[in-house]
Amino acid sequence: MSGQQTIMTGLLGYPVEHSMSPVMQNAAFKQLGIPYYYAAFAVHPDRLGQAVEGIRALGFRGVNVTIPHKVNVIDFLDDLHEEARLIGAVNTIVHENGKLIGYNTDGRGYVRSLLRETKISLSEQNVLILGAGGAARAIAVSLARSGVAGMVITNRTPEKAAELAESIQRHTDTRVRALSLSDLPDVVPDSTLLINTTSVGMSPNESDSPVPGELLHQRLVVSDLVYNPLETKLLKEARQAGCVTHSGLGMLVHQGALAFELWTGKEAPAELMYEKAHHMLTST
Ligand code: ATR
Repeated sequence: MSGQQTIMTGLLGYPVEHSMSPVMQNAAFKQLGIPYYYAAFAVHPDRLGQAVEGIRALGFRGVNVTIPHKVNVIDFLDDLHEEARLIGAVNTIVHENGKLIGYNTDGRGYVRSLLRETKISLSEQNVLILGAGGAARAIAVSLARSGVAGMVITNRTPEKAAELAESIQRHTDTRVRALSLSDLPDVVPDSTLLINTTSVGMSPNESDSPVPGELLHQRLVVSDLVYNPLETKLLKEARQAGCVTHSGLGMLVHQGALAFELWTGKEAPAELMYEKAHHMLTST
């Protein structure tokens, strides 16, 4: 960094030890030869306000925000991008002339990764989302704003699916319905894009799948946010059924790539970031 002042970025979470973002982001900064650095900070929830004030005081360019701070951090920001407002959570802060602005790149990162990897046309998709937590909300908002044909949300706790569907319906033109898990046999045949946002199938429960394999059909693109393992049981059964598949690693990479672009104003080397994340997952 020979005399040039380092421009600091980082991650606020609790815990942060397992984050792949520092390696991904620092490799990207290095590739572009720009004097940025990304560090992970474990911030206790009681100290979140102080940590956010620290971004301003220390002149950080911005940070990512992760669990458990994505919703509570909003109280400490000066402004919110519209998508972050609709999602109700922030995963990226940009420090602009003393002002802290909250963004959410999770949903857009997901959509960008999906489009790059599957080449589907969103306007033709009847989307079925499994789960109604934070990740589902980010993805559902971004897909609805991207103009998908229709959306169904199902969840173990039906009230949460109903609340999410109602909230998206209120703010976008996309037709959204909440259905119960017992409706899956009726809904999957009419769906073209199935997205698992639940943790079902995540290591160490690799033998679980959120959807009975016999429901999967060839016209379905199947996307699983779980990336540990990289090929979940759901994705394996989907591949065997002739479906196009999409793994959750792409969302992780592209939410980071979009944050990188907000901080630097430069296109992120997303392929390099993907390679780094993939390497970290497969070498541990
Ligand atoms: P995230 O931020 O990753 O979305 P979250 O907000 O805790 O995490 O949401 C987790 C989602 O996975 C929820 O939809 C949850 O269902 P409930 O709302 O019923 O809790 C779903 N989920 C987690 N474990 C599950 C399981 N064993 N079976 C079905 N759904 C599960």
